[in-house]
Amino acid sequence: MKNRYIEWMEKRRSTYALGKNLEQTEEILQYTIMEAIKHSPTAFNSQTSRAVILFNEHHNKLWNLVEEKLRSIVPAENFARTEEKIESFRAGFASILFFEDQDVIQQYQDQFFQYAEQFPIWSEQATGIAQHSVWMALAQEKIGASLQHYNPLIDQNVKEVWGIPDYWKLTAQMPFGSIEAVPSEKEFMANEERFKVFR
Ligand SMILES: Cc1cc2nc3c(=O)[nH]c(=O)nc-3n(C[C@H](O)[C@H](O)[C@H](O)COP(=O)(O)O)c2cc1C
Repeated sequence: MKNRYIEWMEKRRSTYALGKNLEQTEEILQYTIMEAIKHSPTAFNSQTSRAVILFNEHHNKLWNLVEEKLRSIVPAENFARTEEKIESFRAGFASILFFEDQDVIQQYQDQFFQYAEQFPIWSEQATGIAQHSVWMALAQEKIGASLQHYNPLIDQNVKEVWGIPDYWKLTAQMPFGSIEAVPSEKEFMANEERFKVFR
């Protein structure tokens, strides 16, 4: 019998066809996201990961902001595709902004100076783990999501609009919502090229 967690992992996909048809309340969604991050491991239990959850007009504001920023750098003749992509994120129910607290990293670097070089690397690993945890928790609720990286382009605007401390570093954006189209099948490389097992 297959491990149940692996079965759930197979259900987590990058979902780009998002809608607003969710049964869960905003409170339940907020709780699920927060718990997923809380229970994700961090180096030395430093708990560097932070998140901002944007519902309703805040969610729209994020994607309007991304669109406006992109308009200033994407050639006009290619902008229709960009606009369509941003609209697919805005069509979702809400978005999560992931951050890493640089102040906490500095404190750990000062305290455990022999690992000073490692803490920023561990922080990047921690944000990835937190993102995967949330993505999995949402997938388990039959909610679709994808992982986006409009940072650092939008960092300053995000900080200004939502009053985010300067020492929170934006690491990813995750729009989520109802799954309006199932992602196409994924290809996998051969296990032999990827793994070595000795017994
Ligand atoms: C570190 C990391 C960065 C990613 N960045 C993006 C991104 O900027 N935009 C995007 O659409 N997908 C992004 N993805 C999603 C991957 O493209 C996707 O996970 C991969 O193709 C496998 O597909 P799946 O998520 O459906 O399993 C990222 C994934 C990871 C792990």
